[in-house]
Formats: sequence, C-alpha cells, structure tokens
Amino acid sequence: QQIWNKPSLTLESDLELDCQPFPHCIFRNFISSQAFAENLKKELLELNFHEKSNDLYKLKQSDDLKKRTEPHIAGLRAALFGRFRSWLGEVLGVELEPTVDISCAKYEYTDVLLCHDDELEGRRVAFILYLVPPWQSSDGGTLDLYTTDSNLQPQSIVKPLVPSWNTLVLFEVSPVSFHQVSEVLSQDKCRLSLSGWFHGPSLERPPRHTVAPVQRNPHLPRDETVLLEWINPIYLDISYQEQIQENFEDSSEIQLKGFLKEEKFKEVSEALRLSQIEWKKRGPPNKRRYEAAALDSLPQCVSACWELLHSEAFFLLLSNFTGLRLHYLCPADDEENGDEEKDKKQQDDGEATGSTPLCCGEVRRWSHGGYTLLHDGEAARAEYALDLVLPFGCAGWQSEFGGFTCYVANEEDEEVSAD
Ligand SMILES: *[C@@H]1O[C@H](CO)[C@@H](O)[C@H](O)[C@H]1NC(C)=O
Repeated sequence: QQIWNKPSLTLESDLELDCQPFPHCIFRNFISSQAFAENLKKELLELNFHEKSNDLYKLKQSDDLKKRTEPHIAGLRAALFGRFRSWLGEVLGVELEPTVDISCAKYEYTDVLLCHDDELEGRRVAFILYLVPPWQSSDGGTLDLYTTDSNLQPQSIVKPLVPSWNTLVLFEVSPVSFHQVSEVLSQDKCRLSLSGWFHGPSLERPPRHTVAPVQRNPHLPRDETVLLEWINPIYLDISYQEQIQENFEDSSEIQLKGFLKEEKFKEVSEALRLSQIEWKKRGPPNKRRYEAAALDSLPQCVSACWELLHSEAFFLLLSNFTGLRLHYLCPADDEENGDEEKDKKQQDDGEATGSTPLCCGEVRRWSHGGYTLLHDGEAARAEYALDLVLPFGCAGWQSEFGGFTCYVANEEDEEVSAD
C-alpha cells in the first residue's frame, strides 16, 4: 500500500508503479515461462470470438472464460484468482473476493473502446494481460489514461500505454479511472488480451456530475420566401410531401437527397471549407469529441442557412414531412393518434415542449476519432424529438469511412438502426 501511494516508482526493470493520473502498475514479463505464454495465446486464438459493437466499442470478445478447461487458460485463471489475488489484496490492504471475472478480447484494424471509467458495483482492480506481437504507438490500440477535472470528468490523455507481449497492467477502479483503448491503426496486427476485474468493496462514489441541458429556442419568425430561396422545389410540392410523410411514418426516418438548391448547397459547402471559422473542441471525452463552430464566426451564407433551419416556415415544412406537430398552426392529430399524443405530453415534464416546439443545434466538424456517446444521464432525460442532420463536404462517402449515427432503444443494449 505504501508503494501504491507513492507518486511513481520503478522497483525492478520489470515492475513500474505510478499514481498519475490514477493508481496503476505494469508488470513486464508477467508469465515467467515463455512457452506457457505462447501456448496460452494459441488456446485463446482457438476460442470463438463474437463481434461486439455499439456506440462505446467495436471489438471481438471470446466465449466466457470462467469455465474453460484448456490447460493454459485454466492454469492462468487459477493463478490470477488464487495466489495472485491474495498477494494483491495484501499489498493493497483490501479484501479481494474470489469472484472470477475474466474474458479475452481481440482488437484488430479500426477496433476501439472509447473513454469510460469501468465502474460497476464490486469491481475494485482491473487487469489486462497483453499477448501481442511487437507493437508501436503508431499501431494504435494504446491504453490511454485520462486526467480528470474538478467535477471528476475526464480531461486529457496524459499516459498512453503501448501494449507489449506478456505485460500485465493493473489499475484501481474508481470514479476517476477514465481510460480508453485507442483505435487500432495497424491493418494486420491483432491486439490480443485477457482482461477482467478483481472484485471487492467499491470505493465510495461521489454523486454523478450533472450539467444543465442545452438551451432550446423557439423558431425565428421567417415566412415561406426563405424556403423558396433555399430548398429544392420538389420538396415544396404538396403531394410529394404527403408521400414523404407516409414513408416517415412507416420507418421513423427519411433521407431527402439534394435537399437544398444546388447553388445554395455549393455556396455553403465552399464557405465552410474556405472561411476562417472558429472551431471549438467539445468534450468531455466520456461523452463526446468533435468540434463545434462559434456561431458568431460563421460566414454570412452559413448563418443564413442556419437561420433557415430555425425558421418558422421550416418548422411547418418539417411538420408536413413528418406528421409531427412542430407548429401550433398544424392541424391537431386525428382520433387515432390522440392517445399517443397524450402519452407523449405526459412524458414531457417541460410543458413548453408540448405546446411550443423548440429546437437546438450545432454546426459540427467531424474528423477521424470524433464521436458522441450515449450516457446514463441523457438516457434518463430521453424525450420525443426529431433529429435532423444536414451534411456538407461528404461527397463520395463510403460506409467504411464511419461517421454513421446509431440509435439505441431506451433501456436496451441493442442498436435499433444505423445510417
Ligand atoms: C404544408 O402542407 C399544407 C397542406 O397540405 C400546405 O398548405 C402548406 O403549404 C405546406 N407547408 C409547407 C411549408 O410546405
């Protein structure tokens, strides 16, 4: 325990302890027999792996290792959760339970596990044993440790750990143990690891930091001329709008290609590309990572487009596309939908959202490594809303470039749709 609390210490060349940004230690050459480590790797690679993917991660995970009987897997499991656990408990001065919690993961090209803190009832110490080929930081797949700010929100990566063969990393699971596995950039290397947790009494968790919801605004008073100026005339055709609405009601989503008039689209795209816009980084990394434009730095035509999307006329147009009542002038729903509408209103705690539709948004710039993550606070505040995305600068986009949006049903782990 004395050692754990020292700022940083290298005991022998194979063991390193460090308390920054949170307590962790690294054991190189953890398994003494090279042959054992090689055989362990062989057994692991023969397991079934399952593709796992959601907003937080994309990786391959093995079948449960709790009951596997392969000699090297079983041997290492017994050693880790037997003598090693007792030793570790003594060193830390913590009663670690014999609970076995271990699995094997494979990260290959583009696989990733974004920023999170690992906290779950009972997890006390996390471990990862790497069985990787010679690895450089340019291969990606580093275990990145984050600092936290005064609200215990992750801030920046101060220690990226490059995985290496037969190295075990341990860290204390706590409200500040934010980390990620950065995206694997190597096209042919496989980052194989065994990982899990030693369980024990959890550290006390401070109340979760909450932030005020984003400011929402009512529409801007602009009449239909703004639509005539900006929008492809086919979308202003009433019978086409009815068709769009039918499709939207069937699938809850709709893509409107060539939405803006071509010359307007070009003008805005060029302005976004060429202007000196002030882009601000948005975080914290356990929730999001992208850049948003300072609205007062937008060139005139981008501002005008931004206003279009907030205009009264546009709210009416969206009502026509979706059948949602986004303006008080829209006809009230008929009998059939009456009950549904009532339910919706009861779930909206803010009356305002029921009667006066509001909107909020950002001009965002996405690049490699950008993301938003769904988080508990947000899921609890979930409500009915229409999401709208108007992409620029995405000509020739391929699905393997990423950049998709995935929707997750509330209280479920499964993706419902992606685009
Ligand atoms: C929406 O539909 C109504 C009735 O079909 C039509 O009168 C109105 O012009 C449409 N609004 C827009 C903005 O296209």
